[in-house]
Amino acid sequence: MDRCLLRDDIWWVGAIDWSERDFHGYELARGTTYNAYLILDQKVALVDGCRAGFGEEMLARVQMCSGGRRVDYLVVNHVEPDHSGSIPWLVEELAPREIICSKRAREALSKYYGADVIGRWNVRVVATGDQVSLGAKTLEFIEAPMLHWPDSMFTYVREAKTLLPNDAFGQHLATARRFADEVDTHIVMEEAGKYYANILMPFGSQIQKMLGKIKDMGIEIEAIGPSHGVMWRRPQDVARIIEAYVRWSSGQASEQIVVLYDTMWHSTEKMTLAIAEGIAQESVDFRIIRIGTTPRSEAAHAVLESRGILVGSPTLNNGLFPTVAGFMTYLKGLRPKNKVAGAFGSCGWAGGAVSQLDSELRALGFDMLEPLEIKYSPTQDELEACVRLGQEAARRVKSWV
Ligand code: FEO
Repeated sequence: MDRCLLRDDIWWVGAIDWSERDFHGYELARGTTYNAYLILDQKVALVDGCRAGFGEEMLARVQMCSGGRRVDYLVVNHVEPDHSGSIPWLVEELAPREIICSKRAREALSKYYGADVIGRWNVRVVATGDQVSLGAKTLEFIEAPMLHWPDSMFTYVREAKTLLPNDAFGQHLATARRFADEVDTHIVMEEAGKYYANILMPFGSQIQKMLGKIKDMGIEIEAIGPSHGVMWRRPQDVARIIEAYVRWSSGQASEQIVVLYDTMWHSTEKMTLAIAEGIAQESVDFRIIRIGTTPRSEAAHAVLESRGILVGSPTLNNGLFPTVAGFMTYLKGLRPKNKVAGAFGSCGWAGGAVSQLDSELRALGFDMLEPLEIKYSPTQDELEACVRLGQEAARRVKSWV
């Protein structure tokens, strides 16, 4: 079994989940990890747990790195079951002197695992700015509500300038390597972006506040140990992921348009291709995604990275095509911001899908283009209208601020 030192007696003691592919609706292309960290000092602290079923793998690493020393503090940064599922079992196995968590985490632990169980633990509730000394190192806690749940908090090891922010700055990425600098940067940043789009996109304003709070508290970050994926230990990697979070959370995106569609008898598909031609004529980059055949987590990532989104649907039974309806439900929950957007599609004798799409995209606060709906199969004139829609979308994206 591998040992992995993040820095300064802070050991990675997580578990690797190579086979997970469905993470509450987020399709994982490359599995994930459940990271936890063991900090050795005069006192020993374990930060975070892992998903139920992975506790033995994690415990073996804890025992290997601790050399049999007792864990004094078990910090629970976040109660979602991918981190806390093993906590009751770990408490039995490790018998930590104290369990440290936020007030909301304590409530959630009681709901998940039983007030009688939690009542037997020695729980210390902490808030932003509270510290626990391990000897030479100090743990400092920062509440991070909605990153990813209300109970979430970050743990900062002040002397090691190391941030353990649980779900923030993570990626769903299982690899034999533990550090971002050991894996192809494009893969790491693609998975970090997909993770942000599918997990954290609804919470951009909270992320902006958190980044401000970190600055105000004088927190210097030289290494980041997230709860999923690889760790960031080089200054350029730490800077890259923080800059990406600044960009994503403020709604900045590339000068590109993603055209998302599905099709019943290829009419909406013909419209899609004509729209793409219009976008290309304006020299704006674009991507076409067929919703029914593409993982929605990949489509959500494309939305995050694009200034413009155009969504096309055939009408079925006076409403959205089912795959498009499912995607829109998912997208609305993610609450993307600052997009140029438009709806298009085809229908038979009566419409419905395009007006529904238009109103759903409008409700997200986007800069809307005129919707475009055609009957049956597009004529040459109607395809030219699609080209004009693509051109107009591209012009708006180019003037986007
Ligand atoms: Fe990785 Fe919100 O749990």
